[in-house]
Amino acid sequence: MLNQDIERVLITREEISTRIKELGEQITRDYQEKNLLLVGVLKGAVVFMADLMREIRTTVDIDFMDVSSYGSSTESSGVVRILKDLDTDIQGKHIIIVEDIIDSGLTLNYLTKLLQSRNPASIKVCVLLDKPERRDLEVAIHYRGFSVPNEFIVGYGLDYDGKYRNLPDICILKPEVYRA
Ligand code: PRP
Ligand code: MN
Ligand code: MG
Repeated sequence: MLNQDIERVLITREEISTRIKELGEQITRDYQEKNLLLVGVLKGAVVFMADLMREIRTTVDIDFMDVSSYGSSTESSGVVRILKDLDTDIQGKHIIIVEDIIDSGLTLNYLTKLLQSRNPASIKVCVLLDKPERRDLEVAIHYRGFSVPNEFIVGYGLDYDGKYRNLPDICILKPEVYRA
């Protein structure tokens, strides 16, 4: 059973939903009459993306990228490679990169630089979760859902070893699960 691997709930589905409504209102205000494209980062961001886009009350298109950092599943090695690029030409568009979590900053540091080089009208970053204690690389974050402690968290899109993404709340995983 999935739930037996969970130590406790860190952020409830209700708290997530309330915060995403606020982020959606903020983005709606900031992007009136603008050509907005949300770029979701597979796979972790899909749940957040699906909820966030429905709280944005202005015209918006979506696209996805899939990137992978080499290394084991819990520690990355500093190299990012593209597994799936955008389908969209972003020149002249207002981009918001949508991520479930920023940890070392490697993924978002790489993506913001890459997308900036394609001449969008603007580029901003929206993360649901920020784990500042783990940051190695500076990344400007314009929309932030929650700041979280340095615990192993899963759920609401976040996985450990491909599992737990479907949990509706953001949860702390029992250490014996990833130490096993
Ligand atoms: C996770 C998470 C972020 C990234 C954050 O993705 O979803 O994309 O790591 O870590 P960083 O700030 O150290 O780069 P992961 O590579 O596990 O892929 P996934 O989204 O498919 O789970
Ligand atoms: Mn990810
Ligand atoms: Mg992952």
